[in-house]
Amino acid sequence: MLFLTTSLYVIWNIAIRFKDSKLPPGPRKWPFIGNLLHFPRANMWLRFHEWHQQYGDTVYAEALGRGVLVLGSMEVITELLTDNASTFSDRPTFTMIGEMIGLKHSLPMLPYGPKLKQHRKLCHFALSQDSVKKYCSTQEDAVAMYLSSILNSPSTFYEELRLAAGRIIMSVTYGIAIQRAEDIYITEAEQTMDMISKSTVPGAHLVDLLPPLRYIPSWFPFNTIHSFALQGRVLLNSMVRRPYEHVKREVAAGAARSSFVSDCFESFESDSGGLSSAEQEHLILWASGAMYGGKVRAPQTFASILSFILAMARFPNVQKKIQQEVDAITGGGRLPTLRDRPNMPYTEASLKEVLRWRPALPLSLARKTRHSVEYKGYIIPKDTIVLPNVWAVSVDEKSGIPSSRFAPERHMKEHVKETAIDPASYAFGFGRRVCPGRFLGENNLFLLVSGLMAIFNVKESPGDNNTPLNPEYKSGLVS
Ligand code: HEM
Repeated sequence: MLFLTTSLYVIWNIAIRFKDSKLPPGPRKWPFIGNLLHFPRANMWLRFHEWHQQYGDTVYAEALGRGVLVLGSMEVITELLTDNASTFSDRPTFTMIGEMIGLKHSLPMLPYGPKLKQHRKLCHFALSQDSVKKYCSTQEDAVAMYLSSILNSPSTFYEELRLAAGRIIMSVTYGIAIQRAEDIYITEAEQTMDMISKSTVPGAHLVDLLPPLRYIPSWFPFNTIHSFALQGRVLLNSMVRRPYEHVKREVAAGAARSSFVSDCFESFESDSGGLSSAEQEHLILWASGAMYGGKVRAPQTFASILSFILAMARFPNVQKKIQQEVDAITGGGRLPTLRDRPNMPYTEASLKEVLRWRPALPLSLARKTRHSVEYKGYIIPKDTIVLPNVWAVSVDEKSGIPSSRFAPERHMKEHVKETAIDPASYAFGFGRRVCPGRFLGENNLFLLVSGLMAIFNVKESPGDNNTPLNPEYKSGLVS
């Protein structure tokens, strides 16, 4: 018996080693739990960056039987996510939030395929570089209102920034004018996004780890799976339907303001694209929901503006140069507009630097492999979670300027021999899933950055212990 057990153990070990020898390199695994204990709870990208130095640009680890591939350079990210898009453009799935609550219908969660193409085509129609021009004045008004509100009441800085972002996205998506932060459209979206953010953390719901648990009946003692899913479904449906139904009523009454949804109605009226009216409704409902829900709190814009303010406090010389450029363009008597953007190269380089210095999505959005694939002699198995380590790409010192410095100059040909990798090529994602809202997002950032510099001076205020300001990243979907 002892001989049999030992032999089985040896065979199992050899089999595992043989399988592992074909996988990309990575930290050594423990039996059963794999590398679970190697994944830190916070700032994972920093640990991954250390792994890249030890194992190279493609690092493979495993947690509870699930493979995770981390990509640490622009070259491998491009080769896999862009050049090999049909294998690397799926998203990981979540039983609770995706299947049971219904988020699987929303663009960011859709698998790669014809449905994703339809959704992205519709988003492109509203958010392409050309289309976003019609939203310039909406964005400028929202930012002007924001700046005036914090001038009067600086302590409401956070809430007002969220309100400004909510105003822009509600106006662009539905033509709805938001007045207050307590508006139902804002509060409902915030509640839904909280639920989504908590539910997309790996292991947040037991049913994500053990999907068959969803079949345990709801009357079974202590089973809260179905009641949680029901509450989530009601919330999510209400969030996507409420503003959509509003536009439908306004269109019927001939009173709708131009928006993404009203433009979609018009476009389908002239060409249905072979879709039934139920299919059209489903498509518009979930494409608009993805724009509105994910962006009402504008987590990426919010995180980037906080990083910008931190940078201005820590690098006063950069602040002075942006202010000089703003004043030279506006004469100090007005706020910068989007028409000024091409004439403000230093501010433009500062936007790039915000996206590089503290990327809002340091691990971008996760992908999942559709098939098993061979890459550089290694096998990447089907269903591996793929994380592009944007952080590792951002600590790029090609320009010769240390990556820890906030230095817009690294993006300007006249200042450095070789400019840094353009952050626009990694901060907004990759290949066929690149962020469809990037042009709108960049315009928001430009108006906020230049507007803040037109009116305010940012200064470091030492804490109680006279230590310099050095806040830590908070880990989440957006950091
Ligand atoms: C500074 C602002 C923004 C940043 C840094 C940002 C970044 C990103 C990133 C990294 C992704 C993942 C792409 C990938 O998987 O390769 C993404 C996806 C997405 N973004 Fe943005 N984004 C911003 C603003 C916006 C805005 C304003 C909108 C909508 C109006 C938007 C809508 C979306 C959608 C719908 C997706 C999912 C695309 C898909 O899965 O195919 N984003 N964004």
